[in-house]
Amino acid sequence: LWTPAKIVEDAVRQIRNQVGRDKVLLGLSGGVDSSVTAALLHKAIGDQLTCVFVDNGLLRLHEGDQVMDMFASNMGVKVIRVDAEDLFLSKLKGVDDPEKKRKIIGNTFIDVFDEEATSIRDVNWLAQGTIYPDVIESAASKTGNAHVIKSHHNVGGLPETMKMKLVEPLRELFKDEVRRIGLELGLPYDMVYRHPFPGPGLGVRILGEVRKEYAEILRRADAIFLEELHRADFYHKTSQAFAVFLPVKSVGVVGDARRYEYVVALRAVETIDFMTARWAHLPYDLLETVSNRIINEIEGVSRVTYDISSKPPATIEWE
Ligand code: XMP
Repeated sequence: LWTPAKIVEDAVRQIRNQVGRDKVLLGLSGGVDSSVTAALLHKAIGDQLTCVFVDNGLLRLHEGDQVMDMFASNMGVKVIRVDAEDLFLSKLKGVDDPEKKRKIIGNTFIDVFDEEATSIRDVNWLAQGTIYPDVIESAASKTGNAHVIKSHHNVGGLPETMKMKLVEPLRELFKDEVRRIGLELGLPYDMVYRHPFPGPGLGVRILGEVRKEYAEILRRADAIFLEELHRADFYHKTSQAFAVFLPVKSVGVVGDARRYEYVVALRAVETIDFMTARWAHLPYDLLETVSNRIINEIEGVSRVTYDISSKPPATIEWE
């Protein structure tokens, strides 16, 4: 019989058999898969697990602190936080092509992670939050069947020099099963049922060149959008929702003053599998509140638009 408790029990036993007394390293992103992997490994092997959390400067508002609070402070998981914002932003300087940005972010992540890994002694195992759909997808792309639109960096891609064996405890599970065992392990509902967030983070939600100033505006706009979605009880009725920064200026007027500032686009979609998606028909009142708040509260934004494109032909992300 499949129950979350039984899956956890089996997985714990299997992890203990596989790694014994060895040390395990995990890249924690704060996403559902790596978080559930961390909780599961922590339950199975406690202190033998060390997580590395790389803050690339492209995370949502307060995300880094939230990850540290949940895992390090509350659960007692060993987490090393690496503040690599400057490094990522300097590598992204002047780069505006989306796929180049993805590659740079992915490669920089690997460099930073690799450096941390070599500084920790005697680690034999690298844990990954690979889930069953990732396995299928990467198998398909190896045989050339898949239409690889985006370069994901959670499967493969780690350097040969990283001579570690892989432990992937979620490898046979579907997303919904991963969420249920996350709850079973005591992770909060809102973390386990959060929307997906791409590996390159805000890097693909700032169109063109990524700049710190843009990231700061976007983080605040995105936080307002998500806060109002939660308040109106619409967060869990959409599959993914976020703000996008458009580096074009538009004229606005506040009081007597003319403003010439940037544009923020809101994107919210409903989907089962993320292969196709319909734009979410959010209530006008909700959109109005979000738009007013963004323009009034964030200097540097003079206009908010709502994306009414479905997938296909538009992708969910703007880059
Ligand atoms: P698209 O934009 O291709 O997105 O319709 C489909 C889903 O994939 C996510 N996505 C990514 N995830 N690295 C990731 O880890 C990426 O480079 C990437 N690009 C898109 C996107 O957020 C959506 O959930």
